[in-house]
Amino acid sequence: MSVEQELIERVLGCAAEDDPELNETIYKNFYQAMPDAEQLMSHVDEGVRGKMMAEIYRLFLSDSVAASDGDYLVFETKTHANSYFVRPDMYGVLGDVLLQTLRLSAARVWSPAVEAAVSQRLNALTTAIARALTRH
Ligand code: HEM
Repeated sequence: MSVEQELIERVLGCAAEDDPELNETIYKNFYQAMPDAEQLMSHVDEGVRGKMMAEIYRLFLSDSVAASDGDYLVFETKTHANSYFVRPDMYGVLGDVLLQTLRLSAARVWSPAVEAAVSQRLNALTTAIARALTRH
């Protein structure tokens, strides 16, 4: 396993351990950064919010998101746009919120190398989502 992948796994593990309410922290920060997103999600229960975060963590943990998850991202972003009215700019904000939240929730293991690995991974995910949005 690459050093970067080890750092990514350690960060998410640490954040989940040190912040037992990690999902709620992420949504709270997301809604604060983007009140429109809170409105779109106001009808969504904890179970579905949890499913969404589970998928986001899965993508975050994947070291080949661009290569292996393209079709999934096209499917998901299409549903999000057509059924849930999610705007393209909301994905980038969620990515920024993930970085900021992990910085605090995984402060115990944070370092410049972790910052670089997490930023790079989130950039790869945001880029893959942007590409998926052009394939609708
Ligand atoms: C990588 C980014 C994202 C992924 C992988 C993702 C994935 C998911 C998944 C798996 C669900 C649950 C669907 C189900 O099983 O019923 C969901 C629901 C939802 N997501 Fe996302 N999501 C992402 C980003 C966003 C963003 C940026 C928003 C903006 C507000 C958003 C809004 C919603 C809403 C409103 C629902 C609830 C749909 C409903 O049941 O009415 N998602 N998402």
